[in-house]
Parts: sequence; C-alpha cells; structure tokens
Amino acid sequence: MRVAVVGIGGIGRIHVEYLGRAKEAQVVAVADLDQAKASKVQAEYKVPKAYVDYREMMDKEKPEAVFICTPPATASPAGLGRCRQPAVPGRAAPARPRPGPSRGRVGHADGS
Ligand SMILES: NC(=O)c1ccc[n+]([C@@H]2O[C@H](COP(=O)([O-])OP(=O)(O)OC[C@H]3O[C@@H](n4cnc5c(N)ncnc54)[C@H](O)[C@@H]3O)[C@@H](O)[C@H]2O)c1
Repeated sequence: MRVAVVGIGGIGRIHVEYLGRAKEAQVVAVADLDQAKASKVQAEYKVPKAYVDYREMMDKEKPEAVFICTPPATASPAGLGRCRQPAVPGRAAPARPRPGPSRGRVGHADGS
C-alpha cells in the first residue's frame, strides 16, 4: 500500500520509521510546513518525495492511506480536509480519525 505521512515532527518521524519496516506499506511521500524537517526525514528514511504543501503531495502521489501527524487544530477536517477526499480513483474515501483529542490521526484513503 502506498502511504504518505503529513506532519513530520516527533510522532510523524516515528510513523515514517515504523512504516518503513512494514512489508505491506511503502512510504511514498512526506509533507511538512517545515521544508528542512521534511527533507531531513526524507533523506534519513529514503522516502522518494518530500513536500511543503500536503495538497500538492495528495495530487501528485495519490497515496492510498495518509497518516496525519499534525497537532489537533490542523488535523481537523477544516485543517487537512484534502486528505479526506479520494486519493485513488474509484475509491470512496474519507479519512477516519482515531478518537481522542490529543492523538495523532490516521486517515485511510479507501476508508478501510
Ligand atoms: N510525540 C508523540 O510521542 C505523540 C504521541 C501520540 C500522539 N501525538 C500527537 O500527534 C500530534 C503531533 O505531535 P508531535 O509531537 O509530532 O508534534 P510536533 O510539533 O513535533 O510535529 C508536528 C508537525 O506538524 C507540522 N505541521 C503542522 N501543520 C501542518 C500542515 N498543515 N501541513 C504539514 N505539516 C504541518 C509541523 O510543522 C510539525 O513539524 C499531536 O496531536 C500529539 O498530541 C504525539
């Protein structure tokens, strides 16, 4: 599965590291407002692409699942709503946040 991670801070970096070990997942891109942070993690974990604008990442990479690892305010539908739109044609697909106000959120592009 082609996955992407948005927000490469403390928990986002850990997601990239662990997803990189999963046979089922291929981290195709990361996005962070801080370009230096995204580029550093991209190089460290050999992620193909790094973006500042997550919307550009969604449009270009079309990930099947997106791990939203930004602070709660930006992880809201209003903040990162583009992640809730179908990334892969033919798959209906809003992201499904985990419950809990202070947790990072996980969105599956196909709703699974
Ligand atoms: N750090 C942990 O161990 C941990 C554990 C569980 C849950 N969480 C939760 O995960 C969330 C993130 O925590 P953190 O410690 O990684 O925070 P952090 O501040 O270290 O990282 C957040 C990153 O998100 C980026 N960001 C913010 N808005 C963005 C946007 N619109 N597009 C792209 N990037 C954006 C920031 O530039 C920053 O690099 C919080 O809700 C936190 O409660 C963290």
